[in-house]
Amino acid sequence: MRSLLLTGVTPGLLSAWLAVLAATPGRALAQVEDHQYSTADIRTGSRLYGAQCALCHGQNGDGVAGVNLPRQQFRRAASDDDIRNTITTGVTAAGMPPFRLQPAELDGLIAFIRSGFDITATPFTVGDAGRGKAVYDGTGACAACHRVAGMGPRTAPDLSDVGAIRQPAAIQRSLLEPSRAMVPINRPLRIVTREGRTIRGRRVNEDTATVQLIDEGERLVSLSKSDIREFELGTASSMPSFAGKLTGEELADLLAYLLSLKGQ
Ligand code: HEC
Ligand code: HEC
Repeated sequence: MRSLLLTGVTPGLLSAWLAVLAATPGRALAQVEDHQYSTADIRTGSRLYGAQCALCHGQNGDGVAGVNLPRQQFRRAASDDDIRNTITTGVTAAGMPPFRLQPAELDGLIAFIRSGFDITATPFTVGDAGRGKAVYDGTGACAACHRVAGMGPRTAPDLSDVGAIRQPAAIQRSLLEPSRAMVPINRPLRIVTREGRTIRGRRVNEDTATVQLIDEGERLVSLSKSDIREFELGTASSMPSFAGKLTGEELADLLAYLLSLKGQ
């Protein structure tokens, strides 16, 4: 399948960025800010979590009301140290016992939680949502393509509820490697109609007989498949990669902002 709308996708930048992050010897993966986690830490954490925490927090980490571990939703905890303290002192009044664990085991649990429960993920940091909004509107210029809460164009997916529908690791991957993270429905589409008209855009819906897309002029176009001569889905996202363009801190803040977008 041929790539369409190939603007600004820069895998070279990404590998440069990852190389810097992975510079610590013996660490396969690293976190964007001061903490670094390895794949081994994440796997250790995953095993411990299954044995000690899943009973209450559930396999998906959403078993305790008001707490969703892979989505970084806590009642009080914010930093890694807060999470560490919660685990070692427990929340006895609420029914969470204290755990006596080795430092390496605690590192593992934190890495597993911060990876969004994804043992293959590049760990991420969740920064400050308020600063993240400033990155979204400023340096990132995300609003040039995206829409949030009714503001902004329809060229790219509406991000109003992205924090509810995507895992943090997947959102981070969208920012660093958009083409790899792209979900199938969002693949760019090029259509040639029977009359020879070419329409490029973003597919928003498709069934057996029709397809709907937002064209480059932001119009919603609905076509009957019997009127289509060529139908080509691209594999390259038209979103530029932000690897190397945003600092680790900006990325962490942006992620916090995106995770805070949960629709109504
Ligand atoms: C017996 C049930 C139980 C077990 C086992 C348990 N937890 Fe909890 N955990 C809870 C409850 C209940 C809360 C909510 C506490 C509250 O209301 O503040 C909680 C809260 C948390 C929080 C969020 C703290 C905050 O500020 O919101 C974290 C992080 C956490 N647990 C991690 C773990 C980890 C990691 C393990 C395994 C080592 C674990 N828990 C095992 C019941 C449990
Ligand atoms: C040139 C237009 C453009 C810009 C600028 C842009 N994006 Fe995107 N973005 C897209 C398109 C198109 C998609 C859908 C294809 C894909 O997933 O890569 C997308 C997808 C995404 C997704 C995944 C959505 C989902 O439902 O999976 C996220 C998250 C995202 N963008 C966030 C951002 C943020 C944050 C910024 C600013 C730092 C930004 N984008 C800048 C065009 C853009």
